Amino acid sequence: MPEEIFDKVVKIAQSRGFVFNASSIYGGLRSSYDYGPLGVLLKNNIARLWWSSINDLDVSIYPVDTAIIQSSEVWKASGHLAEFTDPMVDHKQTGERFRADQVPEDIKKEDLTEPRQFNLMFETNIGPVKNENSAVYLRPETAQGIFVNFENVLRTMRAKIPFGIGNIGKSFRNEITPGQFIFRTREFEQMEIEFFCDETEEDKWFDYWIENRLNWYRNLGIPENKLRVRNHDKSELAHYAKKTSDIEFEYPWGWGELEGIANRGNFDLNAHQESSGKDLRYFDPNNETKFTPSVIEPAGGLTRTLFAVLLSLYKEEDLEKETRTIFKFNFDLAPIQIGILPLSKKEELITVCDDINGTLRSMFRTEIDITQSIGKRYRRQDEIGTPYCITVDFDTLDDKSVTIRNRDTMEQERIKIEDLSDYFKNI
Ligand code: GAP
Repeated sequence: MPEEIFDKVVKIAQSRGFVFNASSIYGGLRSSYDYGPLGVLLKNNIARLWWSSINDLDVSIYPVDTAIIQSSEVWKASGHLAEFTDPMVDHKQTGERFRADQVPEDIKKEDLTEPRQFNLMFETNIGPVKNENSAVYLRPETAQGIFVNFENVLRTMRAKIPFGIGNIGKSFRNEITPGQFIFRTREFEQMEIEFFCDETEEDKWFDYWIENRLNWYRNLGIPENKLRVRNHDKSELAHYAKKTSDIEFEYPWGWGELEGIANRGNFDLNAHQESSGKDLRYFDPNNETKFTPSVIEPAGGLTRTLFAVLLSLYKEEDLEKETRTIFKFNFDLAPIQIGILPLSKKEELITVCDDINGTLRSMFRTEIDITQSIGKRYRRQDEIGTPYCITVDFDTLDDKSVTIRNRDTMEQERIKIEDLSDYFKNI
């Protein structure tokens, strides 16, 4: 992927309302981002497609939405307090801090301090008095919220192994070197499943989830040649993992992680069992025994996926007199699915647009776009990835028909207003 795509996509994302620099009126906060109207729609669509894809499976995946701030005991038991660290080095002259494996090439080794371990969890205090018992942490993964609710879900949903629990939400890591726009930030969103199975079936489900998750990314429109699976070698494994494979995406700067699929064995349930004293074993009615299930974890990044989608679906097309830029979102994913454009600002035309919008907006994501010439409005809708535009012109007042323009082919067809809902339902 050419490197300039990065700059172009970041520019459009910011200028068209997908992503803004956080606190921008105060000059911004490094590597902190806010999602604008189109970014929120796109992010919600990705999350919705994640939930609906796991809902379609033959196995049950139960949803939870767990607290960002959990008891500190959770992080002690999970090993994050002791182990969730990155080695960091400081530049002796400038004081700049880098992750030891991410030092820019032009910096000499002798200018750096020896690596020190740095815990990535953000610490804060709960309640009005700050003391040794008030420290809490912003969660660095949504996964632990699932493990500590394992027994709650098992009991209330009468779940039978194999089954999963899914959680989407914000996670926080005090990354030493955040960067590359929303690829690595200190505040980000994850979409994680903990899938509980019998130990003898770990490998089967591990392979199943790799294929399942790869397919999901393909269905978002990420091309096959931009995806690959990379197995971690032993030295890379997180403290909880027996085995991990990353689904990687080819970013403009090279391959990088999109999602990690880990075999966590029974590390977490055992750790919480030991630490809390609660029985977190599963009762198998077939042979009337209790055991601690194994866990396969597909752990994806929602905000990182959003970036991969923008990079994958950004296209430029040379027309006769200009180049048009497009996000080729499919109909399900597009922030705005249908643009409704009056040919001119005449009130009669706007009234028809309002009527059409009134019918379509309960079923589809629509937008009425009035300002500027029709050509410029088509370009803007292409740029934000709107798959279809409806144009209302003066003939519409007589023939009760409108023109539908297809973003990708730029072909136009005339269709009766009364047939619009069915037309879009059948896409
Ligand atoms: N529960 C396991 C876990 O959290 P991870 O590989 O550290 O595994 C899972 O994170 C996913 O979360 C990553 O594949 C990535 O998509 C996303 N992610 C992790 N750190 C991130 C960061 N600093 N900024 C944006 N996304 C991040």
